Amino acid sequence: MKRIMVTGGLGQIGSELVPYLRDRYGRENVIVADIRVPENLEEIEPFVKLDVRDEEAIIRVIKENDIDFIYHLAAILSARGEQNPQLAFDVNIRGLYAMLEAGRKTGVERIMVPSSIAAFGPETPKDNTPNDTILKPRTMYGISKVTGELLGLYYWEKYGLDVRGVRYPGIISWKAPPGGGTTDYAVEIFYYALRGEKYTCFLREDATLPMMYMPDAIKAITQLAEAPSENLVHRTDFNVQAMSFSPGELVEEIRKYVDFEVEYRPDYRQKIADSWPRSLDDSAARREWGWKPDYDLPTMVRDMIENLRRKLGV
Ligand SMILES: NC(=O)c1ccc[n+]([C@@H]2O[C@H](COP(=O)([O-])OP(=O)(O)OC[C@H]3O[C@@H](n4cnc5c(N)ncnc54)[C@H](O)[C@@H]3O)[C@@H](O)[C@H]2O)c1
Repeated sequence: MKRIMVTGGLGQIGSELVPYLRDRYGRENVIVADIRVPENLEEIEPFVKLDVRDEEAIIRVIKENDIDFIYHLAAILSARGEQNPQLAFDVNIRGLYAMLEAGRKTGVERIMVPSSIAAFGPETPKDNTPNDTILKPRTMYGISKVTGELLGLYYWEKYGLDVRGVRYPGIISWKAPPGGGTTDYAVEIFYYALRGEKYTCFLREDATLPMMYMPDAIKAITQLAEAPSENLVHRTDFNVQAMSFSPGELVEEIRKYVDFEVEYRPDYRQKIADSWPRSLDDSAARREWGWKPDYDLPTMVRDMIENLRRKLGV
């Protein structure tokens, strides 16, 4: 039986990954670890308060709970990272190093570490971006993601610690709010639309970026987690494409359900978006572990609207 720990488990992805894993492996076998203590602790338990920069604490938690499988989601995301690059370095690079060392020393079987489209940079081809291409990001977040991809590969080849990851695009979901990324507009905008409020978008109307709906994000990470090792040529750096759209195209799709007003006022996040691809070539993920998304723009918007109407009671 797997014993799983999800670090950063209270975040946007953890909030949906944890229930999925608990359904599959049993509630008591999936431990949530986060630096924040949740208000609804009873609903979240088993929970441990853990700072991923503290290697000794990680080792203690792994041993006390017999953990053999880790989803390492604790991170500072792109926009927050540009406001506090030192914190992003600390949590994303030092924290990952502490996690890898703890994994190596305790003999953990596998660590899933999401990378991001932020690993790419302005010199990377923007359309149908190849899996193996130029990685020269200019954000601290992106630098931490390239470092994570390389460190993960190093620990696999040097120590046999099986580290795997996909390069997530912007993730859209309705259960938990996003944690400070450049694509957060694509979640926020639904709340404004459904409340009939005007939305001021921090990206340009034509800023096309790759995006993914949460069910596909969960599918990608769990499918890769279970892929036979011998099928993997890549390991820590899989492109995964689901849909690409601009704020203007998203607004047009949402207006099929509700009318609302939008103004575009790009801020510092536009510069981050400008350095990222518009779409990705994910043939390596398709070939090596059978990746295939279920949602495109129209089906994602329909599902978001349905669920948020229920959640917000509008
Ligand atoms: N959400 C996206 O759009 C997206 C896109 C690309 C990649 N990713 C990657 O997926 C992973 C999860 O992202 P998310 O969207 O769930 O992030 P999030 O910001 O919603 O959640 C991160 C969680 O980490 C916790 N955390 C922060 N510092 C910590 C520390 N020192 N120790 C322990 N916990 C700490 C936070 O409290 C938070 O609950 C990250 O690696 C992120 O880079 C996310």
